[in-house]
Amino acid sequence: MNTSTKLEYSEKVVDHFTNPRNMGSIENASGVGTVGNAKCGDIMRVYLDIDDGGFIRDVKFKTFGCGAAIATSSMATELVKGKHIKDALAMTNKSVMDALDGLPQVKIHCSLLAEEAMHAALWDYAQKKGITIEGLKKPKSDIHEDEHDHDHVAEEEED
Ligand code: FES
Repeated sequence: MNTSTKLEYSEKVVDHFTNPRNMGSIENASGVGTVGNAKCGDIMRVYLDIDDGGFIRDVKFKTFGCGAAIATSSMATELVKGKHIKDALAMTNKSVMDALDGLPQVKIHCSLLAEEAMHAALWDYAQKKGITIEGLKKPKSDIHEDEHDHDHVAEEEED
């Protein structure tokens, strides 16, 4: 993975920022997940349309955030489209960054929004279906909790 210390964006990041894929929403989605970062105020929402076999028929996102957040959301949706929910669960912020040819060091946290919002949408889907997706943990609504000391966090379910 290429992580530059300077604010240099790869061509893929610029492409996905200027021409985001799968932006929008899905009516009556199988699962919707919203995650924010209280530190920068950015928010991401992911919509999943999942068929009976557990494959992602369609995926859309809305991101109120920085360019890196928009690019990572766009790439994350591309990576899971048509895939099984297990593949979507396995997608990490690192796999999204790799697919984008890296992010500047100071923007790595932005990619966490995509991973967490995807997990939140999967969680919502599992709740609605009354099923358990093995390996899926209850998502956080604010990823900032993960980035720094938990000085203001009440007893959350953490492992
Ligand atoms: Fe907030 Fe990028 S600065 S997600």
